[in-house]
Amino acid sequence: MTHTPAISRLFEPARLGALHLPNRLVMAPLTRNRAGADGVPQPIMTTYYAQRASAGLIIAEAATPNAVGQTYPHIPAIYNERHVAGWRHVTEAVRAAGGRMFLQLQHGGRVGHPDNSGLVPVAPSPVPLPETIHTPDGRQDAVVPREMTLDDIRSTVADFATAARNALDAGFAGVEVHAANGHLLHQFMSQGTNRRTDAYGGSVTGRIRFAVEVTQAVAEAIGPDRVGLRISPGNTINGIDEGDTGNIYPALIEALADSGLAYLHLVFADPDQPLFHDLRKSWPGTLIANPALGWGTPLPADGGMQAGERLLTAGADLIALGRAFLANPDLVERLRIGAPLNPVRDQHMMYVGGETGYTDYPVLAAVQHRAETQPGSEPAYAHAPAPAPAPAPAPAPAPAGP
Ligand SMILES: Cc1cc2nc3c(=O)[nH]c(=O)nc-3n(C[C@H](O)[C@H](O)[C@H](O)COP(=O)(O)O)c2cc1C
Repeated sequence: MTHTPAISRLFEPARLGALHLPNRLVMAPLTRNRAGADGVPQPIMTTYYAQRASAGLIIAEAATPNAVGQTYPHIPAIYNERHVAGWRHVTEAVRAAGGRMFLQLQHGGRVGHPDNSGLVPVAPSPVPLPETIHTPDGRQDAVVPREMTLDDIRSTVADFATAARNALDAGFAGVEVHAANGHLLHQFMSQGTNRRTDAYGGSVTGRIRFAVEVTQAVAEAIGPDRVGLRISPGNTINGIDEGDTGNIYPALIEALADSGLAYLHLVFADPDQPLFHDLRKSWPGTLIANPALGWGTPLPADGGMQAGERLLTAGADLIALGRAFLANPDLVERLRIGAPLNPVRDQHMMYVGGETGYTDYPVLAAVQHRAETQPGSEPAYAHAPAPAPAPAPAPAPAPAGP
């Protein structure tokens, strides 16, 4: 089944800070564990991102701003010169292909393991992840994280600012501060993971303080119009229990609304929910909405396009799609002409190295050429229910969550 080609606002240009975006489709950050064991981006990542350069904006996958913030094996980093040099190849290739890129900065907090980072994870409070975590030796129980001291908090804020400067050195147009999906900033904001009684815990004002300080320090380091913030209100991934979702986000937005940030990026954006409209009203800048339809279930046939159009009508400025870009290097063109989408495949290869399920998704031209030269051959792109996942090689590689 194809969807109808549309004259859609998705294909209108937009401004984002100093950037001119040729369309409103943003590639959401997608962790794919293709960096070296030392966090240095590898050549295959250059190929992957350059293939997707027609996105209005690419937000590159979560990169760790310091060693202890590393979540899983083979996560890229951005805290030393080798990381910067590795990323520079990526940004140069994307720019040469006509694209624009931000880098997501992610500190995992308790989502980490000594076997991944060589360090005991740190977190607002010594509350372990209630799940196993992927390590080079397979899944292991999470360890109890060390409670961050005030010095840890200060140095982590500084690490984010340095990582943002590094990202600019590496050729990124800006960075996205990751305050979503159960990672360190989200852990501070949430009652279930923040049991502190000092200035960084307790009331909502205390619990949002760390996220606000990190975002402001990053904005001061590289300029606010180069900084975005990602949030996922109500998301329980990575064992997060926010407790008072309805209080956290209005307070966070109020604290940052006048900072002149490039954008706010909302995961699970739903125009039928009052929270979406409340955040839209109180956020004066660009709003990126990620509909995240059925995240964890097969992607809808249109990749989330109709949901994105509804969100634009409801006041979002840009639409982020994750899995649709993962499986369709030429997603923008396919949506523009109403072509069928490649389904996401090779789930067992999602978080391990190699080209399969990463750089080998076909673009439409290649598929059409095959159909013309090999009539009768099954078009690989035709949208069909996602094939049953192939048996996973042992050990099953997927980490707990992005
Ligand atoms: C393989 C994979 C990796 C992801 N990695 C990240 C990540 O690094 N940072 C992040 O904020 N979200 C991450 N996410 C969440 C996506 O950005 C997005 O919110 C989610 O896939 C839902 O959007 P979609 O329905 O368009 O795919 C990841 C999701 C997937 C499927």
